[in-house]
Amino acid sequence: MSNQKIQIFDTTLRDGEQVPGCKLNTSEKVEVAKRLEALGVDVIEAGFPISSPGDFESVDAIARVVKNATVCGLSRAVEKDIITAAESLKNAVRPRIHTGIGTSESHIKFKLNSTPEKIVERAIAAVSLAKSYVEDVEFYAEDAGRTDNAFLAHICEQAIKAGATVLNIPDTTGYCLPDEYGAKIRFLKENVKGVHNVTLSTHCHNDLGMATANSIAGVMNGATQVECTINGIGERAGNTALEEVVMVLKQHPYLNMTTGVDTKQLNELSRYVSDTMRVPVQPNKAIVGANAFAHSSGIHQDGVIKKRETYEIIDPKEVGVDHSSIVLTARSGRAALAYRMKNIGYELTRDELDIVYKSFLEVADAKKEVSDDDLHEIASLRHKVAV
Ligand code: KIV
Ligand code: ZN
Repeated sequence: MSNQKIQIFDTTLRDGEQVPGCKLNTSEKVEVAKRLEALGVDVIEAGFPISSPGDFESVDAIARVVKNATVCGLSRAVEKDIITAAESLKNAVRPRIHTGIGTSESHIKFKLNSTPEKIVERAIAAVSLAKSYVEDVEFYAEDAGRTDNAFLAHICEQAIKAGATVLNIPDTTGYCLPDEYGAKIRFLKENVKGVHNVTLSTHCHNDLGMATANSIAGVMNGATQVECTINGIGERAGNTALEEVVMVLKQHPYLNMTTGVDTKQLNELSRYVSDTMRVPVQPNKAIVGANAFAHSSGIHQDGVIKKRETYEIIDPKEVGVDHSSIVLTARSGRAALAYRMKNIGYELTRDELDIVYKSFLEVADAKKEVSDDDLHEIASLRHKVAV
């Protein structure tokens, strides 16, 4: 069976940039977009052009420089949004307008003060208008995660008839369980007329920590595009993390799914986005966290030193990290100490190791982490006779 290519739709510059306090200026956004293009993403959601003159300017600037990826602009199902998005994308090689509306009962009743029938009419009008400007139109059914499946299928079918090329099924509130979200995608795959001619897309938020699991459930049930952000940044608890999805697909080849992402660039881009947006990455973040390839307990360190794969499922080089690290703390054993001593030039005999290990534990108990400088001092004690 040949591999299914999963399209990576990056929304770092739109959903990601909605994080309070991480506003970027146009030249910073253009730089992020260039790096995303070099990473190999298929679609870059560059912004929400109607939202501010600055966002319009950024989408326009990105549309002019990005040549290989599709450049996408967000709009509500509102005429002036769509016209503005089209205007900002007019210089793009591959422009896409992303338009849509809330489809859950709560969005229809309380946010939009409308009825299901009127929402379908607005969806059709929005997609048709967007289609009059660009060939590639993505329709989002906001809060699809909590939308009744029969209604969701109906509005998706109407969006396809109006010209949508991509159907985005957002779990806007991060509510779904993986089985539930996967079943929703499967239901659409089986019940929407014309669905086989369009791309089904996942867009999951992380309110319950399940954004990546839900996105993977989505592709396992027929979605072929995943919407995600670098480091998982985004509204509230964030969006699906790009690096997680890409590495899940890479580490599980039996799924027969690939992406065009050059995974060796992941670590550097993660740091670049974190620095530029001033959003730190939690140390234990999967794939790109500072501790993702760091081992500190004696048992784990001993295993990794003997064979890296005992406690690592990813070769750090695959994601652009030079090597795994053996962090020396009071939980470290002799194997780790000998390994780190060797790295800085000391081949210790068993007796020498016994001598310095005691001093090492004293330093380790007093400090969080033992550094190479500490090790040089500890090593100077190695010829003392044990008492
Ligand atoms: O989470 C969401 O529903 C969105 C849409 C606007 C696509 O970000
Ligand atoms: Zn979102």
